[in-house]
Parts: sequence; C-alpha cells; structure tokens
Amino acid sequence: MQIKSFDEYQKTYQYSVDYPEQFWEGIANNFQWRKKWNKVLSWNFSEPNIKWFEGAKLNITENCLDRHLAENGDKPAIIWEPNDPQKESITLSYKILHEQVCRFGNVLKKNGVKKGDRVCIYMPMVPELAVAVLACARIGAIHSVVFGGFSAKSIADRINDAECKVVITADGAFRGNKQIQLKEVIDDALIGCPTVEKVIVLTHTRMAVSMLKGRDVWWEDEIKLVDTNCPAEEMDAEDLLFILYTSGSTGKPKGVVHTIGGYMVYAGYTFSNVFNYQPDEVFFCTADIGWITGHSYIVYGPLSQGATTLMFEGIPTYPDASRMWQVVEKHKVNILYTAPTAIRSLMSFGEEPLKGIDLSTLRVLGSVGEPINEEAWHWFDENIGKSKCPIVDTWWQTETGGIMISPIAYVTPTKPSFATLPLPGIQPILVDEQGREIEGNGVNGNLCIKFPWPGMLRTTYGDHERCKLTYFSTYKDLYFTGDGCLRDEDGYYRITGRVDDVINVSGHRIGTAEVENAINMHAGVVESAVVGYPHDVKGQGIYAFVINPNVHNDEDLTRKDILQTVTRVIGAIAKPDKILFVSGLPKTRSGKIMRRILRKIAEGETSQIGDTSTLLDPTVVTEIIEKSGQLK
Ligand code: WT7
Repeated sequence: MQIKSFDEYQKTYQYSVDYPEQFWEGIANNFQWRKKWNKVLSWNFSEPNIKWFEGAKLNITENCLDRHLAENGDKPAIIWEPNDPQKESITLSYKILHEQVCRFGNVLKKNGVKKGDRVCIYMPMVPELAVAVLACARIGAIHSVVFGGFSAKSIADRINDAECKVVITADGAFRGNKQIQLKEVIDDALIGCPTVEKVIVLTHTRMAVSMLKGRDVWWEDEIKLVDTNCPAEEMDAEDLLFILYTSGSTGKPKGVVHTIGGYMVYAGYTFSNVFNYQPDEVFFCTADIGWITGHSYIVYGPLSQGATTLMFEGIPTYPDASRMWQVVEKHKVNILYTAPTAIRSLMSFGEEPLKGIDLSTLRVLGSVGEPINEEAWHWFDENIGKSKCPIVDTWWQTETGGIMISPIAYVTPTKPSFATLPLPGIQPILVDEQGREIEGNGVNGNLCIKFPWPGMLRTTYGDHERCKLTYFSTYKDLYFTGDGCLRDEDGYYRITGRVDDVINVSGHRIGTAEVENAINMHAGVVESAVVGYPHDVKGQGIYAFVINPNVHNDEDLTRKDILQTVTRVIGAIAKPDKILFVSGLPKTRSGKIMRRILRKIAEGETSQIGDTSTLLDPTVVTEIIEKSGQLK
C-alpha cells in the first residue's frame, strides 16, 4: 500500500481519479474481510447517500487485533506513558490487548449491551480507554467518546442525542498537577439521561465516588466475572462504527457518523502512507482519543497496520516543558504527530528544555488541527527534526475520518505552512461564493471535495437532513468543508482557516453560537456576540462582546461568573479569553449582528472597520472600540 516516490504518487493519484473504484478496491484488498463486497461504491451527494464496500462483512477488531496475533502477538500494540513520570509505563502486546478487549467485550454483553446499541465513553487517556473503544467494536456496539473536558450538560446532550444505554467512565483523571473528577460529572449528567441503564467505572485516581446500586459497577470487579472468549460480531461494511460530536455554526453539536468498512480502509491507508510507518517503529500521536485524531491515529489507523502506538496521559508541560521530548527519548519514538498549539507553547520555552535529550530516533514529524505558522514550522523542523525529518502538515476534519490533504513522508516535497497535495482518491476543488469552480493555480476559494472517499461521514446521527444542509447544500453536488483555501502557483494547497462561524481554539472546533448560548444563560446577560481573534499559542482565542446592564463596578467578578457559566454549560475548553462589556452590539436594520466589525475590533484593527452606515446605530461601534482599547 505504501507509495515510495513522488513519481509513483503522481501516477497513483491520476489512477485514483480515473478509476476510483478500482483504486479503492485494490487498497481494501489489503484488509481482512469475512466476505468481500458486491459493489465498491454507490453514491450521490444530493441526498446524500454514500455506500462503500456494500455487502461486505467484517469486524474491525479482527483487522486491528486478531490478524496480527500469529506473527506479531508479542509485539507492543500500545505503550502507555502516565501523567506522572515517576510512575511506570505500561506496554500491552497485541496478544494482551486482544485478550483485554475480548474480556471487556464480554463485560459489555453481561451489562446488556447488544449489537447496534450506543455506548458513551468518558475516560482519561489510559489503555482501558482504547480497550473500551475496541470492545464496543468487537461486539458491534456503537461508541460515542466524549472528551474528558466537557461538562455534565454537554455529556447529557450527547448521551440523549444518541440514546446511549451504557456509560464507561473512571473515578477521575490526572492532568498535569490536577486531579479531575469524571464520575461526579457523569453522575450530574445522568440526572437527565433516562436511557442509561449501567455505568462501568474504572479505578484510576481512586478519588471518592458515589456508586449507585443497580446502576454503577466497577470495571475491576466485572472483568473477573467473564472469560476471554469473545468471538467478533460479524458486521456489514456500512454498519455504524462510531458517533463523534463536533461543533458547527449552529448551537447544537452534531453527531458525525462513521461506518466500519470505509473508515477502516481509509484510516489504515492514510496512516501507512502519510507517516511512512515501518515495522517496529513507535508512533506517538499526542491527541486525546476524545477527538477524531485519537480515533484514527492512536487507535484504528495504527492498530489496523500492526503498529506500536504510544498513548500519553499527561500534558506536554508537566512536570516541565521538557516532558514531551523526554517521552520521545524514553520510548524511542520514530514518528511524532502533534498540534501547532503544542509546538508554539513549547517553543516559547526556548531550546533549554531540549538540552541533553536524545531525539535521534525521530524520522517523521506531523502536524494537525489548525494552520501551522511558518515560525512554528521552522522551529519544529530545526529543533525537533534536526532538519532531517519531513514534516507532514495534515489537513482533515472529524467528518473526513482521516487525512485528506497532506504530504506523504519521504515522497512529497514539503513547503512550510502548506498541507501540499491531496492524497490519492481525494478530489479537492475550490469554488467562489456562487459555487463556481475556480480553476488554475495561484487562486483562493472555498474548499470542497467533489468525489466520495471511503472515510467520509455518512450522516449526522438521528438527523440526516442536518447532514445534507450542513455539508451538501451550500454548493450543489459538492461536500463543503467550511474552510478557505489557497492553491499556489505550484498547485500546492494551504488551508487559510474557517469561513463559517467556527473558531479553532488550540486545534479544537468551537461554534460561536454555542458559546453565545452559554454566555446568555448567565442571569444578568441580555445578549452576546462571540468571535475569534489571533492568539499566540492557541491559534485563535475567543473574544466575547457581552451586554450586561447590571455589571456596574463588579466587572471582574461578573467576568468570572460568566466563565463559570460557560464551564458549566459547555466545558472549560470553551471559556472566552476576553470578555468586553458593551451597551449595544453592531446590528443591521434587519437585526443581524455584523460580526465582520466585531472581528476587526477583536483583531485590534480598529482603523479598518469599513462602512458602518448600514448599521441601525453606528455609535455603538465607537463605544466598543473605545472600551476594547482598555481591555487587557
Ligand atoms: C478543522 C477540523 C481532524 C484534525 C483535528 C481537527 C482545521 C485541521 C488543519 C491543517 C489547517 C486545519 C480546519 C478543519 N484544520 N487540520 N493541517 N491546517 N487547518 O478536527 O475538530 O474536525 O476540525 O480544523 O479548519 O476544518 P476538527
């Protein structure tokens, strides 16, 4: 499956466009199927209706576990590095991981989970999280992993949307020098979740938790009561594998749905190629499994290829800013896949934390989640890769299932801050506001994809219309990514950022409407408007303009109250970086907030506000500009 030269890439790419079905069939043949497909692809983008490998039967865990046992049973599948460097790391061989997944699959069955049931997973970054995910897949249950930073309300919304039957969690999580309650948050969430029958609780921090009789059971007790024989459920290629919620321009997160066959092929193919993974190498993706990056490039991609994947519980700056590099040295990491925000944050500590650390095992570096600025790209290249490791700047989305536009390591010539070229099978197109194709090079436009790929989303859970509206209606017969994009003179792609009302904070997507709704829940708040602004470390920060007539002299306290409200409603990740109290917002005569103006103010470019004559009351702008200058 691995492409070896740029010439081969170009030929493969052309073939994949001319004969997409033959191309993907060839790739799919590298995986293990109980029964092969009757039809490679049927599709239309108008409904949309997309089916890959129809009629095929498989279980993804046979591809991720069973098929490696005979030859690589003792090879490390997962290496786990704990938050606390004094604690021992853990290695699970493929044999052991297989056994644990089977055992936990039986625990799920024992607790009433059946094929097609939804299971919510809210766990710290421990090996059991991967075990839980794979155990769901083993028995044909659909997992919905919720990132450990979301609030009880966010979890409840997600659980109810998917009507989850079981929740898997832990007592708590370690994060740097903090201990975070997980079970307590789940307890709060479940007050409003009638579909949940059982909660399986892993012991991790061993902080005190309440255990409700009849509902809550301990992971450690349950696994003692089952055996290790858990035959993999036979699944259709188009059966659901997982739901993952993501923010958009409207207030309510969408449950992006991925199906088994296509997702597996796509995650496996892109992992193997983009990172040029070689047998026995250690692959370290620093994401959390609560995001798509973790699903595809900690769990499914690497394991489907028999790779060794490193899971890190902690954060790059704990106990100090050398931690991530120490992890690389300790586990002899060959491929490091991280986010621009992490690079920028570590870069700010200078080269001191790198002193005496051996990074010579590194062979490939990867970046994901947001545009990587040139300064960070060069720092990463020179100080971490010692100018000898290709950097793969991988552009993709929760909806795409896997990497879409990216260099292939040791194949594609790179260019700082460019995601470079589409992978085989991916047909990007740039369009103008009217949806007309912008042809040629040296052009800017809205990024769309015009042909299906196996890893693409199939629907948004419980609301197909929403999927159609969000992704397939802006431009006829195209998948719209929501990103703006430049195609330079060489035909290389550079993603310029979201063109919708989504803010990318540290590589995490946050909808402005969602944050506004949360702020507006605060008792004193009349109205608010949220925009993104450039932030040195996070890429974008959240700037909130808030009308709160009762704020008087207690601005700082009110600010804290609002932050607390947002934390309660969404989670700490959505907390605004700046809150400005104003008496009015710039609105058109039809009552629409002019975000363009607020964005300029948030960016500090107050001299470039432009025309305000269409505003209902242009004087509000003067007030906002004046106040914004006083805000730290
Ligand atoms: C959005 C998707 C799947 C990766 C994790 C984020 C932005 C992602 C890049 C990149 C520039 C990027 C886009 C995209 N993005 N990767 N290499 N260069 N921008 O997944 O939460 O679904 O967010 O992240 O704006 O639309 P996500």
